[in-house]
This record gives sequence, C-alpha cells and structure tokens, in this order.
Amino acid sequence: MRGGGIRVLRTIIARRAGFCFGVRRAVEAARSAAPAYTLGPVIHNPRVVAELAALGVLSADTPEAIPEGARAVVRSHGVGRDTLSRLEKRAGQVCDATCPFVARIHDMAREAESAGLPLIVVGEERHPEVEGIRGWTNCQSYAVADEAAAMALPAMERALVVSQTTFIAERFESVCAAIRARVREAQVRKTICPATRDRQQEAVRLAQSADVMLVVGGRESSNSRKLFELVGKVCPRSHFIEDAREIENTWFHPADLVGITAGASTPDCTIKEVAARMNDIEKQ
Ligand code: F3S
Repeated sequence: MRGGGIRVLRTIIARRAGFCFGVRRAVEAARSAAPAYTLGPVIHNPRVVAELAALGVLSADTPEAIPEGARAVVRSHGVGRDTLSRLEKRAGQVCDATCPFVARIHDMAREAESAGLPLIVVGEERHPEVEGIRGWTNCQSYAVADEAAAMALPAMERALVVSQTTFIAERFESVCAAIRARVREAQVRKTICPATRDRQQEAVRLAQSADVMLVVGGRESSNSRKLFELVGKVCPRSHFIEDAREIENTWFHPADLVGITAGASTPDCTIKEVAARMNDIEKQ
C-alpha cells in the first residue's frame, strides 16, 4: 500500500532482465571489430542491430557472402565446424564471440563424435545455436523440440543428449523422459545455461505476485518468447512488447502490481524506456 492507504499502480523490474553476459560480450566484440560482418544478426533485437549497422557491422547469410579479407565476428549462438572453417578461409580475421556455455556444448558434440554416439539436441531444429551444435559432429544427430518429436526418434541403443541453452528446464525433463523411451542408454547432459534458468525462475516468481506482466524482447528472440510463454501460464494478463511504444494504458487498473522482465537480447535502454513509460502511467 502506498499514498496513505490508497492502492496505486506499482511497477517492479526483475533484477535479471536484459542482456546476459554472453550477449553483452558478443555485442561488445562486434562493436570493437567494426567494420565487420556477422553470420546473421548479432542478436535478435532490431534496435541493437541498427546501431551496429551504423558502426559498420553488417550481417551476411553465408561465409561466402562476406567480402574476401573482411573481418568476421561469430555471434554468441556459435557456428558449426564446417561454417567456422569456411569463415576462416574467407575472412581476413575471425573474432569468435561464441558464448562459453555454447562452446562447452560444442565440446560435448565432439565427444559424442569421438565415442561414435548419436547426438540428440533438445531444442528448436532451425535455431542457429542448435544448427551450430549439430555441426560439431559427423555422427548422426537429431533436434527434438517436444515429446512428440522425441517419440518419433528411431530406436537407439545409446545416445548423448544435450539441450539448447535457452530451453525451459521443466520441459527438458519431460522431453528427456520421452527420449528414454526410444534410447536404451541415454547420457543426459543438462546444458541449459544458468543465466537463462535464473532469469526464467525469477520471472515466474514475479509473475506469481503480479497482476500484469510485461515481457520486453525482440519478436524473433527465442529466449524472450519462452519467457513470455512461462509467465503467461501464471499471469494471464501478460503482454509481449518490443518497446515502450507498444504499451497501452487500457492494460492496467489503478491498483495493479506490474512486473517487467526482458529477454537476454533486450538492451538496458529499452528496459529503461519501458520503466519510464510505466512511471508516466503511474502518475496518471
Ligand atoms: Fe550464453 Fe546463456 Fe546468454 S548461453 S548467450 S549466457 S543466455
């Protein structure tokens, strides 16, 4: 309660909202490498991508699309072995900003290859991180995003199982249960990154006490979408926004507690603008 017993609109921002250390590191690497090329946008945030483009950091679809001898930056998602060697042949200099949590999974994929084990990645098949991980083994590999996909796997004796770093922890467990029905000896490595896990847990706790949740993130950002999915389950009045301009006054009632969280690719300035907009609405 505030204002002499009159309940008013209040806003709480999650402590872990915004850039994780891997994304911050990749954005800084791209900034200091400018002019340079990245394979795909450095992060899924149009504002940051536009700022980097103004500095001369451009995105290319393939290593061959990069001008010969130019500087290249590998973003935090990482790339597969073949893509990395094509990049090294093409570019004059390669700055590898693969997040260390992702690089650790590349090592596991290589381990699976050395042991002759199939690799199963629990994650979105078309996500660049998942494609990159699978690119570090020449043995059979699979991507499964849910139980149905896991149940459709061929029957296997043994396999190494890892997950996309931003996968939802509880869902990983249920997908692994389905994998175990298809693989007699599944070696499961829990590779969800701690920054993602902590952010998701904090967002859910906040959503449990909030009347309205705002999840700030790029529409293409997989981790932001997963965050929205999680908070939406406990707080039905949740909204996914890319920036402060999308906020509508009609979403709030006078006594609401509003929680704000943001994906790992959301810059601090966007979160600050959302907080400032909420401040204006509180005053009204
Ligand atoms: Fe790395 Fe985790 Fe961020 S894997 S890029 S610290 S979400």
